[in-house]
Amino acid sequence: MTCTTISFMNRKGGVGKSTCVRMFASVADERGMPVTLIDTDESVAVAEWHTAGMENDRWSESVTSLKTMDQMELLDHVIALKEAPGEHICLIDTQGSSSEIMGMIFEVSDFIVVPTRLSRSDTSEVGKIMRYVDLYRAQSAKVASPRILINAPKSAGESHRAEMSALFDSYGEAILDEMLAERTALNEMDQRGLLNVMRDKGPAVKRKYYEDVMTLARGIFDEVTEGKFAKENA
Ligand SMILES: Nc1ncnc2c1ncn2[C@@H]1O[C@H](COP(=O)(O)OP(=O)(O)OP(=O)(O)O)[C@@H](O)[C@H]1O
Ligand SMILES: [Mg+2]
Repeated sequence: MTCTTISFMNRKGGVGKSTCVRMFASVADERGMPVTLIDTDESVAVAEWHTAGMENDRWSESVTSLKTMDQMELLDHVIALKEAPGEHICLIDTQGSSSEIMGMIFEVSDFIVVPTRLSRSDTSEVGKIMRYVDLYRAQSAKVASPRILINAPKSAGESHRAEMSALFDSYGEAILDEMLAERTALNEMDQRGLLNVMRDKGPAVKRKYYEDVMTLARGIFDEVTEGKFAKENA
């Protein structure tokens, strides 16, 4: 009888918001939890991914998607999911801009993730989002604390290291331990469908490779959801 809602936000493009939605959908589906993807991004990347996955036969019937830019419609959907039987995961892809719907996304989110790359302009954008969420939290105590997911290899170069330490200095506890690194499989997932289904149905030579990325995805999913669903995959 619960629905856990996770939102991904950052005004910056190409930082991995939609990628995280896809990875999280793959993990939740692998664990048998129904997933609703809510696309509030005009680019409708997630809605298109759903269509591509269905066409490629790399989809699961327990993963559905819808798109809305309307805050009351979003609220209605989340309330309906919370009232539905069973454990459900709702993933919200956003543009992260200061559009009207953002306030509602804050209200309905159990977890907020801010994926970021490691350039100076990226990390300054993170600062803006953190302040923006803080403003909302000042008005509504139930707004979740955002967590920052660094989308860069762990062995970052010199300039990246400087940005990384600046991030740690400012937001130490808000930074997730798991990092996203460059993975070609994530681009394949964008085109083809759910990563867990690609692993199960894809060519044998690629299964281990997809499974490696699922391992990364599970780690990030469990860290964000504070291990709440981890046991089911033990
Ligand atoms: N760690 C990664 N490894 C490989 N490719 C990645 C990684 N992160 C993101 N990408 C790729 O970068 C592109 C942009 O990522 P994504 O669509 O997730 O960004 P976004 O934050 O949703 O951008 P937008 O704001 O434009 O919607 C995608 O093609 C995605 O596959
Ligand atoms: Mg996107």
